[in-house]
Amino acid sequence: MILISDYNRKYSKILNLSFFLFLIMIFNPPIFAEQPWMDASITASERADLLLEAMTAEQKVAMCHGAWGAYTGNVPGIPELGIPALCLSDGPQGARIGPDGNVTCFAAPITLAASWNVDLALAFGRAYGAEQKGKGTNITLAPMMNLSRIPQGGRNWEGYGEDPFLSACMAAAEVKGIQSNGIIACAKHFIGNEQETNRGSNSSAIDDRTLHEVYLQPFKACIEAGAGSLMGAYNKVNWTYSCENSYIMNTVIYGELGFKGFIMSDWGATHSTVPSANNGLSLEMPGSGYFGGSLLRAVKNGDVSPQRLNLMVKRILVPMFEAGLFDRKPEGSTSANVTSPSHTQTAQDMAAQGLVLLKNTGNFLPLGGSIKKIALIGEAADSRPIVTGGGSGNVPYTYMQLVTAKEGIKDRAGSQFDVAYDAGTVPGRATSVAAGADIAVVVVGVNSSEAFDRLSLSLPADHGNRLIKSVAAARKTIVVVYSPAQVLMPWADDPNIVAILWGGLPGQEQGNALAKILFGDINPSGKLPLTFAEKAADYVPAGPEHGRTVWYSERLLIGYRGFDSRNTAPLFPFGHGLSYTTFGYSDLQCSSTSVTFMLTNTGIRDGAEVAQLYLGFPESAGEPPRQLKGFKRIFLNAGKSQAIDIPLTDNELSIWDIQKKKWAVPEGTFKVYVGSSSRDIRLTGSFQVDK
Ligand code: BGC
Repeated sequence: MILISDYNRKYSKILNLSFFLFLIMIFNPPIFAEQPWMDASITASERADLLLEAMTAEQKVAMCHGAWGAYTGNVPGIPELGIPALCLSDGPQGARIGPDGNVTCFAAPITLAASWNVDLALAFGRAYGAEQKGKGTNITLAPMMNLSRIPQGGRNWEGYGEDPFLSACMAAAEVKGIQSNGIIACAKHFIGNEQETNRGSNSSAIDDRTLHEVYLQPFKACIEAGAGSLMGAYNKVNWTYSCENSYIMNTVIYGELGFKGFIMSDWGATHSTVPSANNGLSLEMPGSGYFGGSLLRAVKNGDVSPQRLNLMVKRILVPMFEAGLFDRKPEGSTSANVTSPSHTQTAQDMAAQGLVLLKNTGNFLPLGGSIKKIALIGEAADSRPIVTGGGSGNVPYTYMQLVTAKEGIKDRAGSQFDVAYDAGTVPGRATSVAAGADIAVVVVGVNSSEAFDRLSLSLPADHGNRLIKSVAAARKTIVVVYSPAQVLMPWADDPNIVAILWGGLPGQEQGNALAKILFGDINPSGKLPLTFAEKAADYVPAGPEHGRTVWYSERLLIGYRGFDSRNTAPLFPFGHGLSYTTFGYSDLQCSSTSVTFMLTNTGIRDGAEVAQLYLGFPESAGEPPRQLKGFKRIFLNAGKSQAIDIPLTDNELSIWDIQKKKWAVPEGTFKVYVGSSSRDIRLTGSFQVDK
């Protein structure tokens, strides 16, 4: 006899079972049976393996090369397998996709670097990544990681300056911001692409210690931040092309750093089929000269193993799965207008926080008090603005979008100040305009581009040094310089030049940012990410190498490390930047795990300070005298104090042991220098590391 309750139990079991099957059908549609890699509940690596099992050799090879097309680079999708197309776009200052004016022209990375604001780098990455996504891009060719080794470097503005630690922090934050949009970042150019002169044929000769301790650092940080791809550089590294260099790809990136993503070539930087494939390259861009039919033949005749081909493709598929590219429909379009008021605000924050006040005699700035009439001088303030650099990193902005220095200053001045503008192109006129005003503001600049290094470190004579000198002879003058990296400032000590500002390449919001700083709406907090030398001869190396080999013979002594070791006084040191307030440092305590101190805003204005930590390694380690190993940007109201804690890990204390081929913390006394620039050290201490 069946009891009612048993019957109910049985019936409810059947009900449960069919409900369960129904759930499976909803959440696991039959397609998963045929295409199990579409199941988002398993790992990216498992999904890639399942997909690879279903792919023919031809389909795999099709994923290993791109083509020209709507985007900077295009890898067609394979719809029958659910593989979406890859759409790759430049970077790094903004999305380089027309029509002009449909994207935000942010400040260049060199300006962002001058903010030393990691949170701002994250915000920039988010905003910039969102614009790329809106344009349909799913791989953005940014951030740019090459260091400012020579001031002439044509692409210095695309990177984060001369210091590996600062660059690593900023670029890693940018990667996180970009990838928070579900698209893939591409950290470029790996490695040793510190000059443009003969970049396609020359070899960067970099010793292993320097490679690890200096040039690898930003890439290492980006990999740790989860970057899905890297771009191999044009140049050779130690006489082997980057994109077929087994040591830097197989050994360093995949072996030491455990990178799980893929390496694509720079545009036209693939030079072979078999060595490139076997040594770590996954994607030839943008053509198929080496990774099309030739790669298929190499696989068929055994020069490239099927396992290697699988690995090449898996490295592309894993970041695609991780970014969710298989799990959503392609979105965005090249014609979309992706700029927004909030992105414009980010652009302005970058331009303002990256504007560095180099000199401010007698606290002349901010403008106010008896200053009523301003003579604004220079074409760079109006008809020839310096906004973004040239080449693949150029951002297509319009004059409608751009707020020039003249527009920004006039707008902010309103009826409170009288602003008279002169381009400075007619001899004598600028001087008389300046003489008729209470103060002159001269805006000057120079630009640079990919594929060339600057021939000179001087500002253009007529629109630069001569103009500044003649105006300063007539009236007290504020000089504003926009440039991709260092310029010479032979007039810097002129007593009539009461203030100097440097703003990198400031993007579309330059005028608003400048006006807010000049009039004191924003208290300047930028710090140089570069060392500005007194004279060209003080830079070592002095400029690009024109021979076949670029010897990195200064080794670890890039930038201020070299100035410190040679005891050369810079004009403006790395990390320098003034504020309208003052900061006091006290109560230093240090150990091998943390450095703490008290920071106080000792002035009468609220403002931000970038407190910098430099370490001097035990002498036996053979390191540069001082190296940046930590920093914090803190906003403090006037009179307020805050305890600052900068953590230290083995990462900051290690050197690369070339014998053992691993990182090692040297024994002995580490000196601690805390201050407001690399040459304005306020607190010193030390700690001991024993084995
Ligand atoms: C540049 C890369 C850029 C690529 C695509 C190359 O010339 O070196 O940085 O991403 O072109 O435009």
